[in-house]
Amino acid sequence: MTVTFVTTNPGKVNEAREYLAEPVEQLDFDTPEIQSADLGAIAAHKARAAYEHAGEPVFVDDAGLFVDAFDGFPGPYSSYVHDTVGVERVWRLTSEEDDRAASFRGVVAYCDGQEFEATPEPVDREDRRGRDLAADERGAATTDEQVRTDDGDGDALPVKLFYGVVPGEIVAPRGDGGFGYDPIFEYDDRTFAEMDPDEKNAVSHRGRALAKFADWLAERDTPE
Ligand code: IMP
Repeated sequence: MTVTFVTTNPGKVNEAREYLAEPVEQLDFDTPEIQSADLGAIAAHKARAAYEHAGEPVFVDDAGLFVDAFDGFPGPYSSYVHDTVGVERVWRLTSEEDDRAASFRGVVAYCDGQEFEATPEPVDREDRRGRDLAADERGAATTDEQVRTDDGDGDALPVKLFYGVVPGEIVAPRGDGGFGYDPIFEYDDRTFAEMDPDEKNAVSHRGRALAKFADWLAERDTPE
C-alpha cells in the first residue's frame, strides 16, 4: 500500500522513505494549521484536512522545541518564534535560566478514513473546527487512552498519532548543519547542527516518531 506524505518539505519525505517499508509519495499541499498548545491536536487536524483533500491514506507531521524553564515554550509556536525572535535570542533568553533542559517533540499523524484497532499509540477523534482551543491540554498523550472530544460528538475521522521525543539542552549556537533550532540543541555533547543528517535522524524526535509509525504500519499490513 502506498502512503502519501502531505508536506511541502521534500527533505522530510526522503527521511520518511528511510523508515517505511511501504512506498511513500509526496503530496505538496499546505494543510491548514489550527492554533493549539497541543501538538497532537494540530497534527490530527492537519491529517483530517489532508485526507479530505487527497482521498487516500495520508500522514502529516508536526514538531517543536519545548524549553522546560519556559513551560514548554516555544513548543507548537516554534516556527513562528524561529521566524520572529530567532534562534540566537532563544538561546540568550534560556542562558539566563539555571535549568536549560529542553526537548524536541514531534508527532506523525495518520488518517485513512478507517477505524483503528487499539494499540498503545493514541487515536484522536475530535473535530476541533470552530472550537476554542485555548483550553486544550498541553503535551503528548503517552498512554493507551483514546483522546476523545469533551464537547463534540466524537464522530470525526479517527487519526492515529505517533509521538517522538528527544531530550537535550539549550546551548550557545554551534555547528553548520541542520536547520531551525539545531545549532542550539545539544544531545550527547554535540548539537544537532554538529551531527551529519544520518546521525541526527537516528536520535531525533521525527526519527523516533517515524520508527513507531513504520512498525505499526508494517504490522497492520501483515495479512492475518
Ligand atoms: P515542523 O512542524 O516540522 O515544520 O517544525 C516546526 C518548527 O520547529 C520548525 O520551523 C523548526 O523551527 C522547529 N523544528 C522542528 N524540527 C526541528 C529539527 O529537527 N531541528 C531544528 N528545528 C526543528
